[in-house]
Amino acid sequence: MKDVYILSIESSCDETSIAIVKNGNEVVALTILTQMDTHAEFGGVVPEIASRMHTENITMVLEETLRKAKMGVEDVDAIAVTYAPGLLGSLLVGIEFAKVLSYVYNKPLIKVNHLIGHIYANKINDNLHFPCLALIISGGHTELIKMTGDYEFELMGETQDDAIGEAFDKVARVIGLKYPGGPNIEKLALNGKPTYKLPKPVNDDSYNFSYSGLKSSVINLVHNEEQRGNIINKEDLACSFQYTAVEELTRKLDMALKNTNIKNIIIAGGVSANKYLREEINKVCLKNGAKLNLPEFIYCTDNAAMIGAAAYPLYLKKDFADLDLNAESTISIC
Ligand code: KG4
Ligand code: ZN
Repeated sequence: MKDVYILSIESSCDETSIAIVKNGNEVVALTILTQMDTHAEFGGVVPEIASRMHTENITMVLEETLRKAKMGVEDVDAIAVTYAPGLLGSLLVGIEFAKVLSYVYNKPLIKVNHLIGHIYANKINDNLHFPCLALIISGGHTELIKMTGDYEFELMGETQDDAIGEAFDKVARVIGLKYPGGPNIEKLALNGKPTYKLPKPVNDDSYNFSYSGLKSSVINLVHNEEQRGNIINKEDLACSFQYTAVEELTRKLDMALKNTNIKNIIIAGGVSANKYLREEINKVCLKNGAKLNLPEFIYCTDNAAMIGAAAYPLYLKKDFADLDLNAESTISIC
């Protein structure tokens, strides 16, 4: 079969990224331009600034990717783009750019769900083995999904309030760490011990999650200690929060592994870059005789290579989008 090259575009949040992916699992070239430093000054992503920066940078990101791949747009077989979920203005920059390329170069357009992109990040340099359980843990999502085949999803559980990444970011902010909080909490936690007793998120037998109570209890604890003039041990607090947040995931995953007897696990989304979390999830998998698939670090956070990987099965099915494609800020997988 002829090799298939997909040019993929991701601009759903604060990364402008373009990749060329061969046959859905080989990254020919990838460029990621992050706006993180700009948004860090504001303590979080400012949507208006994000979309303006995508507009300013996207052509340069394309040129850089084509240069690395030693290819032109005319050499690829399709143009793929993230259309949901994410910040509307940011998504629209990528979508309009993709439409222009698709029209001018006469290439089919493929629309990709960002969350499915995170799952297919596991296919890069590897493969997906079905049936599997996918744990999506990002700034906007905390979902446990059963997959029985390519693009066959069944939602088992999800967060009832905040996403785990959102909790990492808010807790980081209250203890004075910069955005994005996740990696900074992880770093601080390395020198701490889980000495603070924090409430367990959801103490039930469903596969749902909840992170707003845990987040609020950390915020309250910090404020109360400050009012009493007590000094907080930030390392220990970061470690205690991370410990409790991860324990909730591992407990639910353990339950799901036992109840479904599924032996393949995928983790996806920005929070899956957390090394402590990777180790703890791996322990649960080993205990249940399951195999854990982890994306390489670079494919954990937002990037266009995962969008190219997720677009490939759609290309094979000729599941193409029209030029009236629009952005959607919220959408679920199933
Ligand atoms: O998937 P992603 O790049 O963007 C979304 O689609 O949300 O995930 C970003 C989230 C942020 O909340 C960030 O703090 C978190 O992933 N994150 C981490 C780590 N690296 C990124 N959380 C914990 N530990 C990390 N090492
Ligand atoms: Zn993401």
